[in-house]
Amino acid sequence: MKTAHLGFWAIGLVAVMGAFAVGYAWKPAIAPLSGAPAKFSADEVARGERLVALGDCAVCHTAKGGPRNAGGLPLPTPFGTIYSTNLTPDRETGIGGWSYPAFERAMRHGVAQDGSYLYPAFPYTAFTRTSDEDLRAIYAYLMSQPAVKTDNPPTHLPFPYNQRILMAGWNLLFLRAGVYQNDAARDSQWNRGAYLAEGLGHCSACHTPRNALGAEKTGVAHFAGGQAEGWNAPALNRQSTAPIAWNRESLYDYFRHGYSAYHGVATGPMGPVVGDGLSVQSEDDLRALAHYMASHSAAGPTNTDQEQAQHLNQQSYGGLRPVAGSGARIFSGACMACHHDGDSPKLFGVRPSLALNTSVHDDSPDNLLRIILDGIHEPARGDLGYMPGFRHSLNDQQVADLASYLREQFARKPAWQNLAARSATLRQESAH
Ligand code: HEC
Ligand code: HEC
Ligand code: HEC
Repeated sequence: MKTAHLGFWAIGLVAVMGAFAVGYAWKPAIAPLSGAPAKFSADEVARGERLVALGDCAVCHTAKGGPRNAGGLPLPTPFGTIYSTNLTPDRETGIGGWSYPAFERAMRHGVAQDGSYLYPAFPYTAFTRTSDEDLRAIYAYLMSQPAVKTDNPPTHLPFPYNQRILMAGWNLLFLRAGVYQNDAARDSQWNRGAYLAEGLGHCSACHTPRNALGAEKTGVAHFAGGQAEGWNAPALNRQSTAPIAWNRESLYDYFRHGYSAYHGVATGPMGPVVGDGLSVQSEDDLRALAHYMASHSAAGPTNTDQEQAQHLNQQSYGGLRPVAGSGARIFSGACMACHHDGDSPKLFGVRPSLALNTSVHDDSPDNLLRIILDGIHEPARGDLGYMPGFRHSLNDQQVADLASYLREQFARKPAWQNLAARSATLRQESAH
């Protein structure tokens, strides 16, 4: 076929898409609520509160230091900064005028009450899996909270992304709207876990890599590791770099307590996911979530986690060379007192063994560098303890020496490259 013909077909395609945009993409506004707000049962509101926690609504919809769920938090995306919105029942600036059908349409189809399309920085592609019963409870909870009037900055993305109607095409390509459907080949606990993880939990929003249009990749890429607020969200499938494979018990511990003795702690963006969300879920639901997530892990060796941990600790800590080299010196001076092999008494909170930690074994050094520079000041749960940051006592070369030493001594994996430059970049990014 000649190029001219291709051009002709392209014009045809654009025309068809234009017709599509006008005919199908246009969504009507849903009439605002009139009269007094509805009353909901205390039971439903309480259930809604726990579901809202699982969905991390407040994590995204609360500005730093601002009123809960009143929006205004900037979310940087490759397409520009998107501001979260006010989810309190204020009629003018929040969702006070939204009927349940309007709320449901937003959660399932990413379309706001006035008919405009929402950006998928709002994880409706996952929330769409949520049952009607659960969506109603979330609505009941949100509508029962105090109304807060806000003056949040509006979202202005550069052209063409400011054309929200384009999201109709994006949805056509990437949104599979609809409630989670049970997989008949799996048991009910697995299906319950999948419902929570793939729906309100939106785990894949962070733990799955995205394509050029910002949509999650699918198939074997599901849970193959992604990005969140400048951190790496590690792979949770067979590509996981955790030195001991995650299983039902360790995942359960991590979700409930923010800590697994055979892995480590939830620190960065995972901190609030656990602290505000997972740790308050019911026993049955957390077990189901752990069961489902464990089904993605590689099968571990037959010896127990404890045996593997002992072996890895012995190999790394037992083989510590006499203090030679800058990295080893910094480690013994700055880290060793707290991060010994875990056998000695624990004085303040937990002491993750670096031999078992994904951040030392990961392909990218970023999470380890961030923890060294900034420490851990907001533990997922208070009883985990705090770690000081070293941005003021170590320069970039020292941070690099330390990280390469940890990599060699504790992970025995290929060295990371350009560590000093990376440390400088991250130091600047997270400067407060
Ligand atoms: C990862 C961050 C994130 C999470 C988690 C999140 N949201 Fe949002 N949400 C957003 C952003 C950003 C917008 C604005 C999108 C836009 O402007 O197109 C938004 C918009 C909305 C809207 C449309 C409101 C309006 O005025 O147009 C609703 C409704 C909503 N979210 C409900 C929820 C609920 C309920 C939860 C928890 C179950 C939740 N969101 C969790 C980021 C998030
Ligand atoms: C005063 C004690 C203390 C010192 C000193 C200390 N840490 Fe920590 N570290 C902790 C605690 C406590 C945690 C867990 C905190 C939490 O999650 O609440 C932690 C967590 C970590 C983690 C995260 C583990 C994970 O599971 O993600 C890494 C990595 C780490 N430390 C590395 C270091 C390095 C490298 C040094 C030396 C530069 C160091 N720490 C110095 C107490 C300390
Ligand atoms: C906002 C982004 C985000 C969401 C949503 C999220 N995670 Fe994470 N997760 C991370 C990041 C980043 C890390 C690694 C660093 C840290 O601790 O923050 C992580 C770490 C983890 C780890 C530890 C992995 C390892 O090898 O150390 C597990 C397990 C995990 N997440 C499971 C989940 C599950 C299950 C869900 C859904 C219920 C979920 N995550 C939702 C960002 C997220």
